[in-house]
Amino acid sequence: MIVMDYKKTNITNTPYDNPHIRRILDKEIDRMMWKTQGAGVGIDGFARESFVNDLECFITNDLNPEFNCDYNLEWKDFAKIIEERTLQGFRPPDLVFFDPPYSLRQLKDHYDGIGKDLELWQTHNMWKTGKDAIAKTMPVGSRVVSFGWTTSGFGHKRGFEKVAIYVFEQAAREDRYALLVTIEEKVQHTLQDFNE
Ligand SMILES: C[S@@+](CC[C@H](N)C(=O)[O-])C[C@H]1O[C@@H](n2cnc3c(N)ncnc32)[C@H](O)[C@@H]1O
Repeated sequence: MIVMDYKKTNITNTPYDNPHIRRILDKEIDRMMWKTQGAGVGIDGFARESFVNDLECFITNDLNPEFNCDYNLEWKDFAKIIEERTLQGFRPPDLVFFDPPYSLRQLKDHYDGIGKDLELWQTHNMWKTGKDAIAKTMPVGSRVVSFGWTTSGFGHKRGFEKVAIYVFEQAAREDRYALLVTIEEKVQHTLQDFNE
C-alpha cells in the first residue's frame, strides 16, 4: 500500500527548510539509523547549504562550488565516486535524498550561474547515468526520497517500489506546479546490479 498525503504550503528553492518536508526527511534518517543500528550512510547529490551537510552520516555534493559540501561535482561524477567507494568495501548508501533541478530550464540556469555550458547528453537525460550507478550499489531495504514535478523516482527497473507520495501544493501562487515528494524502497536486486 502506498501512503499518500496532500498539503498546501510554501515551497521555496530550498525545500528542506519547509517544516513538513523536514519532518519527512528526519523520519527517514531516524528509520535508517534504527535499521542499521547507527551505522547507516546517507547521500545527497544536490545538497546546497541544507542541514544534511552538518550530519556525520551523510556524504554531500552540489555542483556549485560556493556550497560547502563534501564534493562539488556534476551528479553523475558524484555517483561514480559513491559507486567506486562501495566497490572498495565502504558501506553503500542506505538513504538517498534526490532533490535536483526539476527541469532542463532550471538545470541550465544553475549551469549559467556558475559560468558553465550544458553538454548534449544532459539535454537527453539529465540524471539517468547517476541514478543507475547509485541504484546498483544500494542494498535491499534502503530508501530514496525524490523531489520534483513527477513521481518517477528511481523506479521499478532499478529495483524500487513506491512507499509514499506527498503532494505539496504551492500556497502563494496558484499557477505554480505542485512539488511531489516520492519515497521508494529497494525491494530486489536487478540483473544490472550484477552485470555492469
Ligand atoms: C533544488 S536545489 C537543492 C536544494 C536543497 N535540497 C535544499 O532544500 O536546500 C538543487 C541544487 O542542485 C545543484 N545542481 C544543479 N545541477 C546539478 C548537477 N548537475 N549536479 C549536482 N548538483 C547540481 C544546484 O546548485 C542546487 O543547489
